[in-house]
Amino acid sequence: MMTRRRILQDLALAVPLLAVWKTRALAEVARSALDRWAREVVDLNRALASGDISLLEWQERIATLNVSVPVGDISRYLQIDALSTQFRYPSRLAETVDPHFPEEVSVDGVTRPWFMRVFAMREGGAIIPHAHNNMVSAHLVVRGSFHARTYHRIEDEGQAIAIRPSLDRLLNPGEVITMSDDRDNVHWLVAQRSRSMTFDIGVVNVSKTRTYKTPANRYSMVYLDPTRKPEQDGLIHAPVISFDQSVSKFAS
Ligand SMILES: [Fe+2]
Repeated sequence: MMTRRRILQDLALAVPLLAVWKTRALAEVARSALDRWAREVVDLNRALASGDISLLEWQERIATLNVSVPVGDISRYLQIDALSTQFRYPSRLAETVDPHFPEEVSVDGVTRPWFMRVFAMREGGAIIPHAHNNMVSAHLVVRGSFHARTYHRIEDEGQAIAIRPSLDRLLNPGEVITMSDDRDNVHWLVAQRSRSMTFDIGVVNVSKTRTYKTPANRYSMVYLDPTRKPEQDGLIHAPVISFDQSVSKFAS
């Protein structure tokens, strides 16, 4: 017959065992959900690259996908805390590091033409305002917060690009903004807290039939100044500027 003392001993042993089992089970559930999320990201990028889905469809689906799993789980899965120890925050320009999906998810032929990148900034640091030629991307806030501004690209005018404001608000962890040639092509993010970070997924060389008057740099970027006053029709004629001009105005 079990003594009271024995029962208590067994119970004392059982509770931590149960806790371990629960933690492990949760971790495994999270892991398989994240593997599924990563595979869906890969499939989505591949579908866009092969022309099976539209730019707008990619924007809608990546935004839905990136809020379908907790942002903290995505950070842990991509080991963003460990990767971010290398950031030094020497200036107001963003620093970057490229995380990777586990090898079993990153099968042959999916590493390009898309990329993943973590952008980190100190308080007041910025992803300086820019347009993209023939590219899509989605920034998910993983830490801190950002003042985010986006603009539709209406027309290249030579020395300027006509843009229309489409978003101007604070973004917190777990929130996403996306851009493409079709919608919200210009973006500008300013960190509101120290060690603010976004996790960016982008696909390059998309919509190749679309040509622009304004050439992009090797990162498909065009720097511009969106701070001009809007005209009566709501358009801002944003001058195209150099990287150095942009840094001195938006990240110094
Ligand atoms: Fe960008």
